[in-house]
Amino acid sequence: MTKIMFVCLGNICRSPMAEFLMRDLVEKLGRGDEFCIASAATSTWEIGNGVHRGTREVLLAQGIDPSKKRAVLLTKKDCSAYDYIIGMEMTNVKDILRIADNADAHKVCRLLDFTDTPADIDDPWYTGDFETTFREVSAGIRGLLSHIDAQK
Ligand code: 4NP
Repeated sequence: MTKIMFVCLGNICRSPMAEFLMRDLVEKLGRGDEFCIASAATSTWEIGNGVHRGTREVLLAQGIDPSKKRAVLLTKKDCSAYDYIIGMEMTNVKDILRIADNADAHKVCRLLDFTDTPADIDDPWYTGDFETTFREVSAGIRGLLSHIDAQK
């Protein structure tokens, strides 16, 4: 079982998009049982709130209903329990390492570090451009799956 935790600032835009798209990807491959996939926030700002409308629209267009998801805060325990702790941007990586007390640092990176074009995924909370987020997250999760498969 590979345990993957996606992380962003609020856990309402980028990381839930990654969580639901990754779960959809592996389930469509008939490999859902191989993975435990979750997402969490580095800030308390949106804890308990549902996904942002922009992310919900992107996911609904893919036939995915994220209505049950609520934002949760990343814990130190999560960092030890999961195999991959994947931020969306460098600030997330710094905040994850702070929450983890700098333990488990080898598990922490950005989602687009699994692609040929490592970069931050800009926050659509500020840009309003959820389609770009969708394209970047989709590329990232495919790269992540290839990376995981190459480890076997
Ligand atoms: P996310 O986006 O980190 O991709 O979920 C944000 C959501 C909420 C806020 C900032 C970013 N906020 O300021 O509340």
